[in-house]
Amino acid sequence: MGQTHGHHVLVTGGAGYIGSHSAVALHEAGHHPILLDNLSNSTPDAVEGVRELCGRDIPFHTLDCSDFDGLKSLFQHQVDVGQPIQGVLHFAAFKAVGESVAKPALYAANNVGGLGVLLQVMAEFGVEAMVFSSSCTVYGEPNKVPVDEGAPMQHAESPYGWTKQACERVLTDHASSREGAKIALLRYFNPVGAHPSGVIGELPLGVPNNLVPFLTQTVAGIRPALTVFGDDYDTPDGTCIRDYLHVMDLAEAHVAALNWCLSQSKDKVRAFNLGTGTGASVLEVIHSFERATGLSVPHVIGPRRPGDVVAIWADPKRAHNELGWKASRTLDDAMTDAWNWQQRLGQPDNNAH
Ligand code: NAD
Ligand code: WQD
Repeated sequence: MGQTHGHHVLVTGGAGYIGSHSAVALHEAGHHPILLDNLSNSTPDAVEGVRELCGRDIPFHTLDCSDFDGLKSLFQHQVDVGQPIQGVLHFAAFKAVGESVAKPALYAANNVGGLGVLLQVMAEFGVEAMVFSSSCTVYGEPNKVPVDEGAPMQHAESPYGWTKQACERVLTDHASSREGAKIALLRYFNPVGAHPSGVIGELPLGVPNNLVPFLTQTVAGIRPALTVFGDDYDTPDGTCIRDYLHVMDLAEAHVAALNWCLSQSKDKVRAFNLGTGTGASVLEVIHSFERATGLSVPHVIGPRRPGDVVAIWADPKRAHNELGWKASRTLDDAMTDAWNWQQRLGQPDNNAH
């Protein structure tokens, strides 16, 4: 087993929702995160939030993953100062499903192209460990639930989903082309919530597409009501079912996956489903929020949203058995922390971290 602390780790997309929380988890585990972000979907406030939570001046570089020379300079700088990058958590990507339908070429260039450039620079500097942000979206509508890693990848419902399938293929081919690559493909289910301090969370840029930020903005009075997209599905209460995972559990999974990569003795590429293993319907999420906060969620039942998967939740056994990771926080915990974050956002003197 290799040493599993004290490594210098590049966190691309480190100013983003999951990257910022994972940077805090890396620091708490004794690693040294180095943040990189082009700030296309985040602000420097998130970096300040990470620094506040870590209690130190975490390095941050405004850089695009497609900038070959910029990445080379960063990797070389780390060598020059005696702190070479030893692993990469790669979060940087565009993730809006609807936008990807309107701009498929942009999503391909950014998500797949950016990965390609990063891998070339990593290879030049002999950096072999990567934890990649994939998504359960690669499975499409599963034939059975819970979903394990052997489930087939079906036709991607969106260009965004295709970029995740394509990136997994690029990473698999990259590993086959060289000795020593250690790559964990983390297929996230539905990350929700925020750091319990409320210092960092999901930055709400524009009208949220996702359920939980729309729900908290509705309760905060920013939106008039939450629309439940259909209650006539073949599920117990008629609404769609997902596996909602607290973002801090997800962040801790990245530390476990990095340590797994660093401890591999030979080249390895392996997918891990990251979820609680329990599904929750839209109405159950609403009830969880109301139970956790004592507040009611104004909501109406509306038409189905095209492209929605009816029911999907994870079988997280592989992550438990091989990464030693298991979700520990409840949906109520996530709702409490999501509301705490929303309230801090609402405070006039608070720049959104
Ligand atoms: P996010 O948008 O909050 O974070 C992504 C960050 O990457 C942003 O700060 C953005 O500015 C940055 N970025 C984008 N393209 C870049 C580039 N070319 N170079 C440098 N920085 C770039 O999104 P998130 O929710 O934190 O998601 C992180 C990763 O997890 C993404 O790859 C996403 O596809 C994946 N993922 C997210 C979810 C989810 O529900 N949030 C679910 C499954 C997978
Ligand atoms: C969850 C449930 C909606 C909003 C998406 C992406 C996926 C990944 C995670 C990046 C669904 C319902 C939602 C609302 C609602 N992102 N809903 N009213 O669709 O499972 O996954 O985010 O990788 O790729 O597809 O998450 O939060 O949008 O929806 O009823 O206002 O909530 O129908 O059943 P989803 P979501």
